[in-house]
Amino acid sequence: MSEFAELSLGDKKYQFPVITGSEDEKAIDIAKLRDETGHITIDSGYKNTGATKSAITFLDGELGILRYRGYSIEELAEKASFLEVAYLLIYGELPTTAQYAEFENSIKMHTIVNEDMRKIFEGFPVNAHPMGVLSAMVCAMSAFYTGDKSGSDELNIIRLMAKMPSMATWSYKKSQGHPVNYPNNSLDYCSNFLNMMFALPVAPYQVNPVVSAALNKLLILHADHEQNCSTSTVRLVGSSHASLYASISAGINALSGPLHGGANQEVIEMLEAIKEDGGDTSKYIAMAKDKNSGFRLMGFGHRVYKNFDPRARIIKKAADDVLAALGINDPVLKIASELEAAALSDEYFVARKLYPNVDFYSGIIYRALGIPTDMFTVMFAIGRLPGWIAQWKEMKANKEPIGRPRQVYVGATERAYVSMSERA
Ligand code: MLT
Repeated sequence: MSEFAELSLGDKKYQFPVITGSEDEKAIDIAKLRDETGHITIDSGYKNTGATKSAITFLDGELGILRYRGYSIEELAEKASFLEVAYLLIYGELPTTAQYAEFENSIKMHTIVNEDMRKIFEGFPVNAHPMGVLSAMVCAMSAFYTGDKSGSDELNIIRLMAKMPSMATWSYKKSQGHPVNYPNNSLDYCSNFLNMMFALPVAPYQVNPVVSAALNKLLILHADHEQNCSTSTVRLVGSSHASLYASISAGINALSGPLHGGANQEVIEMLEAIKEDGGDTSKYIAMAKDKNSGFRLMGFGHRVYKNFDPRARIIKKAADDVLAALGINDPVLKIASELEAAALSDEYFVARKLYPNVDFYSGIIYRALGIPTDMFTVMFAIGRLPGWIAQWKEMKANKEPIGRPRQVYVGATERAYVSMSERA
């Protein structure tokens, strides 16, 4: 029997259908609410609003579950390659050997970026934030790669997957005053990225398998996270039928904010500031508890995970492995482990569920891998790209309407225009 939710407004009662997802998630379908009652809902930050029905990622914030297309994040991070996960997200199933080879080869065929795009890139200041540069370059792709006459976005999907790592490394090379590296298609996706980042004309880069495995894991952990801020942005921009490039570029901008992807950069900057101030973590723990201190611990707690972030559990282990394998002894990382230990044992943080999240550990690993702080969010964007693409594709396949939220107007009511000379 169909389930209904009943709403009483004055002396009238209305019924709205309850819909149930494949994991038994419940939603009240209010599509007819305004037509039937003249009311809308208000939900600042959309915390109780399901914007879509999606078959890509399942997340249970209470139980700390994250699955892509039904596969647990723990298993994927342990066993899969990032490109395999990208294929899974974008096309819905894990690839066969032949499908994987075709996907990887098509990506390799498109890793070179149009040389004329380098002219645009050259115009950016040397200290430009790489997220701003990346979003501009991705948007510029719509001017350079207009050719998919079939009307399908397949080629554009491949181009984005192929060129994003190449373009991302340009900013770093420029900040170092070094020539950019061209892709090396004999390397796998992660190793190719590391090579473009770190190889020098005078010193070839030897990819360390521990480093490339850690990067593979990080990219998988970031690959999708259902309707987060940047993904919702991608879907919303795409809902106007803007191009895939324009939509992904908008997603990169949304991700750049410190409340979203920019948090991993903020974590390391916070740790560095604590180190500069003498490294007394207990002082900062006390400040974090004091509402008037103006200090906020970055990288602790999460909007949707109420007990723990499953990605953080996986990444913590990876962080420990990477630090041990690379023999890293960095005072900033020592401060990180002291903060982590304090937060996990202190009643104040435990009661408020302020446990270290994925941003906390990802910043630590990226630092250990030698990736500069302002590139951390770019790494998140490279990881999130297949998720954005998958969500954009799903939104189009579902023929979703243009996104158009409403509002409750709280401004001035109608008033007459007063000429400037008569205004007080
Ligand atoms: C994400 O992975 O997108 C972040 O954890 C933010 C979120 O899900 O809201």
